[in-house]
Amino acid sequence: IRDDKDTASAFIANYIIDRIKAFGPTPSKPFVLGLPTGSSPEGVYKNLVRRHKNGDISFRDVVTFNMDEYVGLPREHPESYHSFMYRHFFSHVDILPSNINILNGNAHDLEAECIAYEEKIKRAGGIELFLGGIGPDGHIAFNEPGSSLASRTRVKTLAYDTIVANSRFFGNDIAKVPRMALTVGVQTVLDAREVVIIITGSHKALALQKCIEGGVNHMWTLSSLQLHPHAMIVADDDATLEL
Ligand code: GLP
Repeated sequence: IRDDKDTASAFIANYIIDRIKAFGPTPSKPFVLGLPTGSSPEGVYKNLVRRHKNGDISFRDVVTFNMDEYVGLPREHPESYHSFMYRHFFSHVDILPSNINILNGNAHDLEAECIAYEEKIKRAGGIELFLGGIGPDGHIAFNEPGSSLASRTRVKTLAYDTIVANSRFFGNDIAKVPRMALTVGVQTVLDAREVVIIITGSHKALALQKCIEGGVNHMWTLSSLQLHPHAMIVADDDATLEL
């Protein structure tokens, strides 16, 4: 638990940098990092970029897999997760474009795209550290309430609450929010050797309480993290109001 979002973000960035350094990645044995979008991780990216510019960390031997992407939104759309990642992180560090993996929400065959993504993660040796955020309903990636805890990368219809929550990025017009997304599954996240989740703000307090004090269940998909041997939640004070 950290005082606020800024200190939580700096803590996580530092933690990730330490992990990458301790791993000592090389071109033949890169560090595989799972990454989220949303407002929660923005501060983490800001800190990672700053530390990179200070010469503290290189991402040259880091391979990334993003959690999710909207279906049908052009890649160049400012709110596509592709655009988000370049705007907040990839364009500012030395990661090789060939090491960046983001689901293609405009793929001709979406199911094949999801299967190929899982295979690519496997071929990369699995994810070393998966960073994530949650929605106010406790969803991780786009694993909406009711998702199977054994789920893998697939097409998902967004919950109405998520469409409303994300409409702030689309001029508060819910008609403009895509209805579907491609997302890694709960099990894809659990397969990572380590999972780090950032949860900030009082609007996430109920989710945090349900996910760590409640039982493991598919209505609050983050609760599955209780089954993970190496998981950490970093919260700010406001998010702990219901604990
Ligand atoms: C979307 C993303 C999630 C993210 C959530 C919360 O639903 N698919 O990965 O955790 O938004 O977003 P925010 O951090 O902006 O609250």
